[in-house]
Amino acid sequence: MKIDGIHYRSVWVDEDGWSVRIFDQTRLPWSLEILRLTDEEQVAHAIRTMQTRGAPLIGAVAAYGVALALRRDPSTATLERVVAMLGATRPTAINLRWALERMRGALHNLAPSDRVAAAYAEAAAICDDDVETCRAIGAHGLPLLQEIAARKRPGEAVNVLTHCNAGWIATVDYGTALSPVYQAHDLGLPVHVWVDETRPRNQGAALTAWELGRHGVPHTVVADNAGGHLMQHGKVDIVIVGTDRVTRQGDVANKIGTYLKALAARDNGVPFWVALPHSTLDLRVRDGVAEIPIEERAEAEVTELTGRTADGRLETVRVVAEGSPAANPAFDVTPARLVTGLITERGRCEASEAGLLSLYGEEAGRE
Ligand code: MRU
Repeated sequence: MKIDGIHYRSVWVDEDGWSVRIFDQTRLPWSLEILRLTDEEQVAHAIRTMQTRGAPLIGAVAAYGVALALRRDPSTATLERVVAMLGATRPTAINLRWALERMRGALHNLAPSDRVAAAYAEAAAICDDDVETCRAIGAHGLPLLQEIAARKRPGEAVNVLTHCNAGWIATVDYGTALSPVYQAHDLGLPVHVWVDETRPRNQGAALTAWELGRHGVPHTVVADNAGGHLMQHGKVDIVIVGTDRVTRQGDVANKIGTYLKALAARDNGVPFWVALPHSTLDLRVRDGVAEIPIEERAEAEVTELTGRTADGRLETVRVVAEGSPAANPAFDVTPARLVTGLITERGRCEASEAGLLSLYGEEAGRE
């Protein structure tokens, strides 16, 4: 994707040939700051603090974290240590474990002297794979938007509602849920996106709105609680969200609040689609509600808000009564029965074991 005419990916190797560059997503949309990561501890910090985030992207950045660790010590002990350490940074997105297992699989049997070059090559392949995968997700999601447009008056916008950020900044490029939206917009299809603000961290208000605005896609930010009302009044044609893990039976873990949108969509007959790359599938897990670990994050993400003051300063303020505790589950699980279908790089399918196996067989989620 382009920012002010310059093409970027969300992670890349610096021109020094070894250090790793990412955008500091905690500074967006207020400033575009690029971080330089030089060791695996910095990579772990960036993932934990969500300087880098989004299920596919944390996998790709962690892969480079393995390369950075091996650069200093290519031993098997270091390989095992860094895979375990980075794998523990965030629990819900399976892409993290997928990327680290792929790295371990590619490197474990090599001589230590061959590991550094191979690690950079494998991390680059993971990134290239993600870019092509996300582009293909867009191509398979596009007909859904075209079908809705065909039922409308000429020029009338297709209204998409999305939650959190599953755009290019959550992946290496293109995004998952937003990939069909970008492709539709680029083809001249009128599309408008309702952007859930996505409390507590505001990935919608801060990141999705920023991305869509930079690309010129019409959009409107709404409070998280507005979705049901918009659907009741016919203002949402389709919901498309990303995901952090999809189970064998098609249950979908995604940013907290996604489940409520799926309930509202079902009640109002609005199609609810989930976009995912193969790296988000976890066929080892069946019942998402019972089996997917849900990340609990810091209370401060709920009790405080950060924003820009009129004179341009960034300020964090408390928005909860002093002394009241807060809980912060970061994800929820939408049962497969509420999901209209899945949009993958291999096509669309039902959110079910039969649907997933029809596209992937048993190979999904394995490297
Ligand atoms: O906590 P985050 O911001 O990393 O959560 C991200 C989401 O929930 C996204 O919707 C999901 O990862 C899909 S990203 C393509």
